[in-house]
Amino acid sequence: MSILNTPVSIYGRKIKNRIVFHPMEGCDGTRNGGIDELTRRRYLRFARSGAGIIWFEATAVCAEGRANPRQLYLNEETKSGYAELLREMREIAVNECGFAPAIIVQLTHSGRFSKPDGTPEPIVAYRNSHWEKGKENQPYTVASDEYCNDISNKYAVAAKLAKEVGFDGIDVKCCHGYLFNEFLSAFEREGRYGGSLENRAKLYLDCIDSVKNAVGNEVFVTTRLNACDCFPYPYGYGVNAENEIDLTETKIIINELKKRGVELINLTLGNPYLIPHFNRPCINAPEDGKIGMERIYKVTNELKTAFPDIRFIMSGLSFEGENALEYAAHAIENGVTDFAGFGRMTFAYPDFYRDYLKNGKLDKNKVCLKCSKCTELMRNASVAGCPVRDAETYMPYYRRDVLKK
Ligand SMILES: Cc1cc2nc3c(=O)[nH]c(=O)nc-3n(C[C@H](O)[C@H](O)[C@H](O)COP(=O)(O)O)c2cc1C
Repeated sequence: MSILNTPVSIYGRKIKNRIVFHPMEGCDGTRNGGIDELTRRRYLRFARSGAGIIWFEATAVCAEGRANPRQLYLNEETKSGYAELLREMREIAVNECGFAPAIIVQLTHSGRFSKPDGTPEPIVAYRNSHWEKGKENQPYTVASDEYCNDISNKYAVAAKLAKEVGFDGIDVKCCHGYLFNEFLSAFEREGRYGGSLENRAKLYLDCIDSVKNAVGNEVFVTTRLNACDCFPYPYGYGVNAENEIDLTETKIIINELKKRGVELINLTLGNPYLIPHFNRPCINAPEDGKIGMERIYKVTNELKTAFPDIRFIMSGLSFEGENALEYAAHAIENGVTDFAGFGRMTFAYPDFYRDYLKNGKLDKNKVCLKCSKCTELMRNASVAGCPVRDAETYMPYYRRDVLKK
């Protein structure tokens, strides 16, 4: 188990241990995208965790690309709140854990899932009948090449702000069906962003370049990447004609990332809107969570084997509950991953790693129950948290926004 507490060097800096707090949207920002009370509460709890990396949730680069009216949005109006929160987080972490974690912001454009005012206003890479079944009446806007050409400027602006407010790293998000991820499967789109892999990955890689140019070497550039979408061709990438996982294109993309100096990749897969149990195995799902864990393990292993010098973060681990840290240590020991990422567990039990260090085990009455109530809150336009383990704060929202509906 001591491997969890072993430091790793990335981007010329030392990460204190192998525990990563995954990006987890709380949908609790201010209307203009700033840090509100619940946002602050969540991140200050995370700051006490002793994790080596804290990965800030999806944070929009433009108003029209927000996934909900309370999604974080880093801009001139909101930046001071971020700077203050980061300062507080580092102070708490140093005081209580003896070190400051690396703090990364996940920059995003929600694309097909944009709902800036609470109703869907999808901006899509292409029309997708697999996805749009039953939702044909939404006002789909296919992102024009001109619109795409300008996105890298939006990323550059947000990246400069991220640097100014004090983030250590910037994640150019490319997962879960959001804009850049959707472009990877724009096989049938015409023009400069569709067709060949080079074209489909262009928007994503251009934005990596643009963020790098904007921040120089002081802030590192990383990415949360869908290893595969697990949607059938031609609606998903990372799958073959038989609809099996095929990581050939993913490896080409990772090579491109490597050329651009990316040393850390946070791996995930699937689409949480249609097949949520693929990226977060859970109870009451169409497949046993163990199958989901095996899929994630296998995919992470294949990519780590192909790219031994890239540092990977594995996902889905909250499913392992009380045994999650043993599972993670085993995966690291076996060379499957370098870091263990935790999502739902951080909402349920932000102190889990400190408890482990102190007591040699996790408290079974505090671990994530993989019940998906955090997701239910989010999907019902509420604030996301754990209504079971953090009941005093989140059960009232669950009653009001989920049960009463
Ligand atoms: C409520 C909720 C919010 C999430 N928000 C994000 C997000 O902002 N960005 C992201 O890349 N993934 C997001 N995820 C996915 C998690 O980061 C993570 O990949 C997933 O929960 C699986 O890990 P786990 O088993 O440790 O929970 C979210 C998941 C949930 C349940």
